[in-house]
Amino acid sequence: MPEDGLSGIGGIPVIGTHRPRFEAPAATITQPGLPLAGLPPAGLICLSKAVQARDSLTEGHALSLHEEGVARLSSMLADRMGFGSAQVEAIGRAAGVHDIGKIALPDSILLKPGPLDAAQWAVLRNHTVLGGAILSGHEEPVLRLAATIARWHHEAFDGSGYPDGLAGEAIPLEARLVAVADVYDALRQGRPYKRGLSHDEAMHILRNGDGRTSPGQFDPQFLNAFLGIEREVERLWGDDGEG
Ligand SMILES: [Fe+2]
Ligand SMILES: [Fe+2]
Repeated sequence: MPEDGLSGIGGIPVIGTHRPRFEAPAATITQPGLPLAGLPPAGLICLSKAVQARDSLTEGHALSLHEEGVARLSSMLADRMGFGSAQVEAIGRAAGVHDIGKIALPDSILLKPGPLDAAQWAVLRNHTVLGGAILSGHEEPVLRLAATIARWHHEAFDGSGYPDGLAGEAIPLEARLVAVADVYDALRQGRPYKRGLSHDEAMHILRNGDGRTSPGQFDPQFLNAFLGIEREVERLWGDDGEG
C-alpha cells in the first residue's frame, strides 16, 4: 500500500488502513469573494444521481432520494443561517454528493440486507475518505467545498465521529451544517432492515438522542437552527414517510 493510501491502480483510491493525504483545506463558503455563482451544476447533479442510483439497490427503489434530500435540507439550513444565495446554492450542490464515496464500496457491504458487523462498519465508514479523495484535487470552489463535506460530514462536535475524530470548530463549518441534515434524512429513509421514521420520531432523536445518535454530536448553532425550521423540513418531506 502506498504511503498516501490513494494511489491504487490508475490513481483510483483504494480502501486501506493508511490515512490518505488529503488536501482539501476547507474552501469555506463564508470566505468573502469566493466565486461560487454561475458554476455549471450538471456535473455535480450527475454525480449525485450516480450515488443515488447505487444506493437505491439497497432499498429496491427506482431512485434513492437521500442525496437530494440532504442537498435540499442543507440549503434550507444554510438559508436559515443567513448565508447568501450563492452560498446556499453551493452548499446544496456540494451536499448532494456527500456520500459519493459509497460508489466505491463493495456490494457485500453496501447491499447487505441487514446490520453490519464491526469490520463491515469500518469499511462503510471509509466512504468519507474515499469521497474526499474522489472530489479533491480541483481548484473550483464548489468542488473543494464538496470534497470538504464528503470527507468530514460524519465528524461529531463532541469528537466522537470519523474519519479523523475532529471536534468542535476544527470540523469545517459546512460539514457541521450538513451533518444535521444528513442524520435527519438518514433517519427518515427506510432500509431493508429498518423502517423509515416519521418526522416527529426523527426530530425526537435529534433533540434527545437514542442509542446511536446524541445531540452532542451536532454543532449547537446548526442543530438549533434546524429545530427552528422543522415545520419547513416536515413540509419538504410531505406525508410520505413510512412511520
Ligand atoms: Fe455518509
Ligand atoms: Fe448520507
